[in-house]
Amino acid sequence: MPKTRRQFLQLASTAGIGLLTPLGYTGIVAADDPTSWFRNPLGLPPVLEGRLHGGERVIDLSLGYGTSEFLGDRPTPTVGINGAYLGPVLRVQQGGNIRLNVTNRLSEPSTLHWHGLNLPATMDGGPHQIVDPGKTWTSAFKVHQAASTQWYHSHMYHRTGIQVYFGLAGMFIIDDPRGNALNLPSDYGVDDIPLILQDRSFNQNGSFRYASSMHDRMMGMMGQFMLVNGTAFARFDVKKPLTRLRILNGSNARIYNLEFSDRREFLQIATDGGLLEAPVPMRNIVLAPGERAEILVGFSAEKDVMLRHKPLPRPNGSGSAMMGMMAMMAGADQPFDVMRFVAPRDLSKLAEIPVRLVEPRNWSATDAVRTRRFTLNMRMGMGMMQGGGFGINGRAMDLRRIDARVPLGDVEIWDIYNDSPMAHPIHIHNTQFRILDRDGKSPQANEQGLKDTVLVYSGERVRVITQFENYSDAAAPYMFHCHILEHEDAGMMGQFVVVT
Ligand code: C2O
Ligand code: CU
Ligand code: CU
Repeated sequence: MPKTRRQFLQLASTAGIGLLTPLGYTGIVAADDPTSWFRNPLGLPPVLEGRLHGGERVIDLSLGYGTSEFLGDRPTPTVGINGAYLGPVLRVQQGGNIRLNVTNRLSEPSTLHWHGLNLPATMDGGPHQIVDPGKTWTSAFKVHQAASTQWYHSHMYHRTGIQVYFGLAGMFIIDDPRGNALNLPSDYGVDDIPLILQDRSFNQNGSFRYASSMHDRMMGMMGQFMLVNGTAFARFDVKKPLTRLRILNGSNARIYNLEFSDRREFLQIATDGGLLEAPVPMRNIVLAPGERAEILVGFSAEKDVMLRHKPLPRPNGSGSAMMGMMAMMAGADQPFDVMRFVAPRDLSKLAEIPVRLVEPRNWSATDAVRTRRFTLNMRMGMGMMQGGGFGINGRAMDLRRIDARVPLGDVEIWDIYNDSPMAHPIHIHNTQFRILDRDGKSPQANEQGLKDTVLVYSGERVRVITQFENYSDAAAPYMFHCHILEHEDAGMMGQFVVVT
């Protein structure tokens, strides 16, 4: 049954009344026997490759209302793309031309943004490409990127947080011959598994609770339940001894520090922009909202293993007494389980893992034509009390203002300094960059690949280097912003154009 705009708004505003916490759990903290809770088969979004028409892959997407059953007997009103919640995994080939028809069957305007892709600004699906209710917007472009895990989501101005929270997001996988030749696990749903991580809050009646308190707006909206591909208490039955997980932090605000319950080693093989030079052995991985990582995990006959969150080495919001207090109030960073993996007894031996992967694009600092400086601000005191004060270089986002004009093809360093008490994942549209340094130090091996989102801790200075290629348009801006969606909605976003 279609919902009116008013109903949609109401769903989001039943603030904290009868908030649901998982039984046996204190907030999101693990119970004594967490495994018993995790028995819902992990949902797998359907794959959509589109139909071939006139040399293009045509993909039809429709935004609409639905009802989801995350918690069994308590139905949750949601929004989704070609379904009740989230969207299909779009799967396309590098070099291919694609045409995405986005039809909005919601009663409020929306957009769909292709996060991580290099494309014309008018095709980007940002806040200037609004799709009004009942209308269809078409985005057509050539896929330039190499094999990688990208994603897509609503980018409606001031409404991105709530629209993504209710379900407007999905994964976008690019394949290429180079990646295929590596013989990495690539059987979707068998040994190549998408994991879209999202935390959600529920009211007693099962409806989502979305940000309404000052705390939610300042820290970003965090929930008490983990959904993986829209499955709460998810269990995945391992099918192959070597399994590739494509992990997307699709949460509005939560930063994960993921590890396995037995602290096993795994290999990170890809970052936001695609495959790394070589697999990087890891035991934990930090993923901020917007970031992706592909990892290879070995499973053998064994007991269950949980994927879990361990409190961050640099907790968010501890930069000042006030933020530290707010984080504590929220129980913001306690350990919790994300999902469960169950490996059968008869798994065969581990497959061979390639030692070298690819050579991702790189630039040296000496190639840079210029450095642009960006300072991330949160105004404390009154600005903070009003839930405002988010900005970049002292200014909040303004749709009519262009913050930077970048010459097409110039190699540039973007120097991002976080002058606020919280960590912010900064995302730049239309490009993949390299992290040059963090406070002058080279990034860890697993961050030495192509990225489009980088977590900048409180007080930290991160320099990234990139080059905007293929498209210029002095009239149509791309966005750069914090990917904590409540921060983005509150103004921690800017616009740049690529010019010739
Ligand atoms: Cu993932 Cu501007 O967005
Ligand atoms: Cu983006
Ligand atoms: Cu932020």
